[in-house]
Amino acid sequence: MAYRFAVTRENHEDLSAGGVLFSAPGFPAFPVRLASEMFQRAMASRASGVPALVWDPCCGSAYLLTVLALLHRDGMTGVMGTDLDDAALELARQNLDLLGPGGLSARSAQLQERAARFGKPSYARAAESALRLGDRLAALGGPLPRAVAHADVFDPERLRRALDGRRPDVVITDVPYGEQTAWSGTDADAGLAGMLCSVSSVLDDDAVIVIATRGRRVLVDEAHPRIASFRVGTRAVALFRASSRRG
Ligand SMILES: C[S@@+](CC[C@H](N)C(=O)[O-])C[C@H]1O[C@@H](n2cnc3c(N)ncnc32)[C@H](O)[C@@H]1O
Repeated sequence: MAYRFAVTRENHEDLSAGGVLFSAPGFPAFPVRLASEMFQRAMASRASGVPALVWDPCCGSAYLLTVLALLHRDGMTGVMGTDLDDAALELARQNLDLLGPGGLSARSAQLQERAARFGKPSYARAAESALRLGDRLAALGGPLPRAVAHADVFDPERLRRALDGRRPDVVITDVPYGEQTAWSGTDADAGLAGMLCSVSSVLDDDAVIVIATRGRRVLVDEAHPRIASFRVGTRAVALFRASSRRG
């Protein structure tokens, strides 16, 4: 059974991309239940159960990070997204700002105004979703510290600068798989293994890295042990400890 934590199928309609959360063509969403499972597995594999600073180093629109925060705010001290695509970072900022003070009520007001202007019931429904998400965020701990920065995931120096002294405990990322998004940057040939080495080098030893990709398996060599791996549908997921991936 792939799902060990997100064992029940829930209605995540409020989290649809392009409803409350900002989206644009070419920016893929991510299955919400799988995102939740990945986060909960990462938390369960940490030595300490204290809330985590969560980082996505290929954050795209930050759909994954935003959804995780809206589901698991109480397990987090903050979220950080980095990417090297400026259009993605613009969307990421908009999405992560929903987690800030008044972010979801402002989004609800914006959607309500659009519902009135265009007479579209979908905007009115999204406005209600934003209010529900705002209540949920408040119940789980309220606004969450967040940061967005430009950084090439293959460049440890740029990553270090982007983190600016922050020490992420959990890295969760949905890496490029060549359909809607592809690796870019000067060291793109280094692929998944290069990314793991680079990201690990800026983390504390006990940080946990969770990677989702398309296909049957997360393809990195076996010299570096995984904490666990599993598959859901067309996606494979693997968990690593930062200490096991230094190149
Ligand atoms: C599958 S998408 C991630 C989607 C994201 N998790 C979300 O929820 O929106 C992969 C992302 O990797 C980014 N990417 C590709 N090469 C990169 C690199 N060298 N450094 C950082 N990000 C990179 C792309 O710009 C793209 O946004």
